[in-house]
Amino acid sequence: MNRRTMLVGAGAALAGVGAGVAAWRSAVGSMAQYDAFAAGLRDRLTPDLEAVVRYATLAANSHNTQPWRFQLEGQAIEIRPDFSRRTPVVDPDDHHLYVSLGCAAANLALAAAATGRPGETSLTADGDGVRYDYLTGAPKADPLADAIPRRQSTRAEYDGRAAPAADLAELERIAAMPGVSLALITDRARVKQVRDLVLAGNEDQMNDPAFMHELKQWIRFNPRSAMASGDGLFSAASGSPVLPTGLGRIALDRLFSVAEENQKYARQIDSSAGVAIFFGERTDHDHWIRVGQACQRFALAATSLGLKIAFINQPVEVARLRSDLAAIVGETRRPDIVMRFGYGPALPFSPRRPVASVIA
Ligand SMILES: Cc1cc2nc3c(=O)[nH]c(=O)nc-3n(C[C@H](O)[C@H](O)[C@H](O)COP(=O)(O)O)c2cc1C
Repeated sequence: MNRRTMLVGAGAALAGVGAGVAAWRSAVGSMAQYDAFAAGLRDRLTPDLEAVVRYATLAANSHNTQPWRFQLEGQAIEIRPDFSRRTPVVDPDDHHLYVSLGCAAANLALAAAATGRPGETSLTADGDGVRYDYLTGAPKADPLADAIPRRQSTRAEYDGRAAPAADLAELERIAAMPGVSLALITDRARVKQVRDLVLAGNEDQMNDPAFMHELKQWIRFNPRSAMASGDGLFSAASGSPVLPTGLGRIALDRLFSVAEENQKYARQIDSSAGVAIFFGERTDHDHWIRVGQACQRFALAATSLGLKIAFINQPVEVARLRSDLAAIVGETRRPDIVMRFGYGPALPFSPRRPVASVIA
C-alpha cells in the first residue's frame, strides 16, 4: 500500500466513523436538548392553573407512567386514575397507581396554596380519585412548594453521612398524615435487614420474564425517546448509559445480571443515611392515596434539607416479602412504600408529558 492509498483508506475509515457518530447521535438525541426539555417542565410556578397542574405532574409515580388525568371545574381540581397507564404485572391491585395519585395530590395542594388557592384535599365522591377544593387567597411562599421542581428519585450511591436528628424529626413532622404511619430506620443492623429483602425482591423480579417485559416497555434508553414519549424510566436518570433503543433492549436482556444489580443496590443502600417505611392503616384507595401524600411530602422535605431520596420498593412489590419487611419495624400491617435517603449527587431529571395532555 503506498502513501496515497493509505491516506485515502484512513480518510474513508474516518468518514465511516464520522457517519457512525452522526447516526448514533441522531438515534439517541442530545443530552443538552434533554436537559433544556426537563428544565422547561420544571420552570417556575406561575399563577395560572396550568402551571399548578404542571407542578402536580412532577410528583413521584410508579414507572413514571403518570397514571392521572386532571379535571378543572369551578373552584375544584380532581385527579382521576388513567387506567390505560396501569402496570398490571408489578402492580396487580393498582396499589402503586393510587399511591402515585396521592403523590400528585400532595404537590397539587402545595402548588395551589403557593399561588393563592388554599384548600382541602379529599377523596372524590365515588372513592376513585382525589379532589382539591379551594378558595381564593393571597399567594404564600412555601419551601415545600419550592422543592417540587428540585425533587427527584436519585438512584445513585450516596456519601454515607448520617442525617442530623433535628432533620429526621422535621421529615417525620412534614410527612405526618392521618391514617399513615412512618418508620424511620437509621441503625445499620436494620438498614441491612431491609437491604437483604430488597436484594431478594430484586432477584425474584429479574428472574420473572413478565416483570422484565413490562419494565422494558417503560424504559427510555435515550434522550430522544424520553422526550418523544414524555414518560417512562429514562436510563440517564438512573445513572445508566444512553443507548439507541434497539441496542438498549438487547443490553438489558444480555448484559444485566442479578449479581451485578444486587451489588449496586447493596452499595446504594449501604451508603444511605437511612430508610423510611410507610404503612397505611388500611388497604384501600383512600389509604393508598394518603400514603402517596405522606411519602411525597417526605421527599419534598428531604429535598429542602439537602437530602436525596430513592424508592426501593421491591419487598413491597414481591408479596411474599411484605411480612418480613413489616417485622423489621415490629409491624404486622402491609407495608406500602420503602425509600432510602441520604446525601448524594443530582442526576438528570425524569421526563413528563405536556401538561395539556393530562388535563381532561
Ligand atoms: C408507588 C411508587 C413506587 C415506586 N417504586 C420504585 C421502585 O421500586 N424503584 C425505583 O427505582 N423507583 C420507584 N419509584 C420511583 C418512580 O420510578 C419515579 O418517581 C418516577 O420514575 C419519576 O421520577 P422522579 O421521581 O425522579 O420524578 C416509585 C414511585 C412510586 C410513586
